[in-house]
Amino acid sequence: MKFATEAIHSSYDCDEHNRALMPPIYQNSMFAMHEIGEQVPYRYSRLSNPTRKVLEDTVAALEHGAAGFAFASGMAGIDAVWRTFLRPGDTIVAVADIYGGAYDLLTEVYAQWGVNVVFADLAEPHNLDHILAAQTVKMLWLETPSNPLLRLVDIEALAAKAKAAGVLVGIDNTFATPYLQNPLDMGCDIVFHSATKYLCGHSDVLMGVVVVKDAKLAKPLQTMMVNTGGVAGPMDCALVLRGIKTLAVRMKQHLENAAELARRLEAHPAVAKVFYPGLPSHEHHGLAKKQMRGFGGVVSVYLKNDSKAAANSVIKNMKLVKMAASLGGVESLVNHSFSQSHSGMSPEVKAGLGIKEGLLRFSAGIEDIEDIWADISHALDTTL
Ligand SMILES: Cc1ncc(COP(=O)(O)O)c(C=O)c1O
Repeated sequence: MKFATEAIHSSYDCDEHNRALMPPIYQNSMFAMHEIGEQVPYRYSRLSNPTRKVLEDTVAALEHGAAGFAFASGMAGIDAVWRTFLRPGDTIVAVADIYGGAYDLLTEVYAQWGVNVVFADLAEPHNLDHILAAQTVKMLWLETPSNPLLRLVDIEALAAKAKAAGVLVGIDNTFATPYLQNPLDMGCDIVFHSATKYLCGHSDVLMGVVVVKDAKLAKPLQTMMVNTGGVAGPMDCALVLRGIKTLAVRMKQHLENAAELARRLEAHPAVAKVFYPGLPSHEHHGLAKKQMRGFGGVVSVYLKNDSKAAANSVIKNMKLVKMAASLGGVESLVNHSFSQSHSGMSPEVKAGLGIKEGLLRFSAGIEDIEDIWADISHALDTTL
């Protein structure tokens, strides 16, 4: 099946559910047993739940993996992966421009528990060679395109180097979604999504989904999930399943709007620089064309007036485009990464990554582009 069909039809058989055309919401914690020791498919929803199972299997199918696991938030999913495969004394190498919350989890929790955390600029894949030569690494954690500057890393090249050194490779595929990129086909072992974003698509659920390539990795992750219990609830799973059914059409419109927004922003006098992998001016445009099937729905800009006041003026003067912490929903949003998603980073780390006060990240929704542009361009004018 092609992607759009698989997103609607995979992993659910209505004959197994009283011909209910949509996966029923098994809003219950327990499943009855008729006798001691009876082998039943479901016993207790922390272990497994039929609605969650359809969602987990659907995302696993879209990511070409062996098994999926749905957690109560993206961060719960990332934590489950790292806790399953890392021990005190192990080293994790993560891309330097990792999502702010994942950065905080590594520095404020994992480093305290004795995990050696190395952040690396992996734009040049050979940078990984030096790290692997200098120390034993347990896990490589990638994120591409990254948040908020949409930098890319070469998944295939980095995964090949990591595999040669026996390093497990995980990747945050939230920004690309399986519609644009399937990292397990490029050599990664584990792919992660904050399903809160595009998979859900309607800004009404928090969820993380992890998919493993090899069934061997599923067992320890399942053990961690069951024992720590940060699982996604049935209602949330049903909402994300509904979202996934329209993922392909939504992504088409996100992409179209983001590309047009990026072109118009480049020509606006208040904008110093536009970051969008689809623009020929983007530093990784060539890699994006090779590695992705489209360029995503997020566009970031540096304002010419690089100040919090200017960023605030844009935010305050938009009516349609609201400031919010997330992205990937049908509505266009703006984020001030400096004070929102990346606020946990020190000023030095932010400066090194290019997270400036005058940086704004737009999540292009699926509204009419003329309305989006009228709102944004008028607000940008206030900074001139
Ligand atoms: C790239 C990326 N990864 C992970 C997360 C964390 O996901 P959640 O907020 O669902 O816990 C986010 C949330 O913004 C994100 O943007």
